[in-house]
Amino acid sequence: MVRVVLLGPPGAGKGTQAKSLATRLAVPHLSTGDLLREAVRAKSPLGEEADVYMRAGRLVPDELVLRILKERLARPDASSGFLLDGYPRNVAQARELAQFAPPDRVVAFEIPQAILIQRITERRSCPKCGAVYNLVTKPPKTDGVCDNEGAELIQRSDDRLDAVRIRLLVYEEQTAPLLEYYRKLGLLTRIDANGTPDEVGRRLRTALEGRP
Ligand code: AP5
Repeated sequence: MVRVVLLGPPGAGKGTQAKSLATRLAVPHLSTGDLLREAVRAKSPLGEEADVYMRAGRLVPDELVLRILKERLARPDASSGFLLDGYPRNVAQARELAQFAPPDRVVAFEIPQAILIQRITERRSCPKCGAVYNLVTKPPKTDGVCDNEGAELIQRSDDRLDAVRIRLLVYEEQTAPLLEYYRKLGLLTRIDANGTPDEVGRRLRTALEGRP
C-alpha cells in the first residue's frame, strides 16, 4: 500500500510530476482539481456549485470535495494506494483524510512566488485529453493546438491573474499550515520545485526512494 500526498502552491508542478510518478508507483494519480473540473464539465449539481468557488480562486467547501474524493477512492484501482494531488487543502481536510486513508508520505514542493505566477498564466490545456502545456516551457508543436488531439488549447478559468492572486493567498492562509501539521507527524519531506521538470522529478524520486 502506497499513499503519497503532494503538497504545494498553485503552479508548483504537482500535476506535471504526478503523472509519471503515479506510473512509477503503480497507483492512480488522484487530483481533486481534475475531479472537480470533470464535474463542472459534466454540469452535475456538485460541479455547478463547485464552479463558482473555483472561478473565484477560492476553496470548494470541504463536504463537496470529500464526497467527490471518496467516490473516486472507492474505485478498484485505488485499492493499492494513491498519489494525491490537491487534497488536503486545510487542516480540517487533513484530519478527515487521516480517518479514512492516512497518508504515509507527504512531499512539499517549494518555489518562489514570482515563478508560480509566470507558470500559471502561461499554462494551457487540452479540453479533450487534459494534456497540460506551457507557452514558454512546454509549448505544443503547433501554436494553440494539442499535439495528441488536434483540439484548440484552452486556459483554465481560474488561471487569470486576479484568480491566481487569490489562490496564492488562500494557499498561504489555509494550506501552508499543513506543512507544520505533517512535519509534526514525521511524514513531511520538502523538495526544491524550481528547476526543469526532469530536475524536479529526480528530486522527487530521491525524496521518496532515496535515489534519483
Ligand atoms: P487544483 O487543480 O488542485 O490547482 P492548484 O493546486 O492550484 O494547482 P495547479 O493545477 O494550478 O498547479 P500544479 O502544481 O499542478 O502545476 P502544473 O503541474 O499544472 O485546484 C484548482 C481549484 O479546485 C482550487 O483553487 C479549488 O477551488 C478547487 N479545489 C481542488 N482541490 C480542492 C480541495 N481539496 N479543497 C477545496 N477546493 C479544492 O504546472 C503549472 C504550469 O507550469 C504548467 O504549464 C506546466 O507545464 C508548467 N511546469 C510544471 N513544472 C514545470 C517546471 N519544472 N519548469 C517549468 N514549467 C513547469
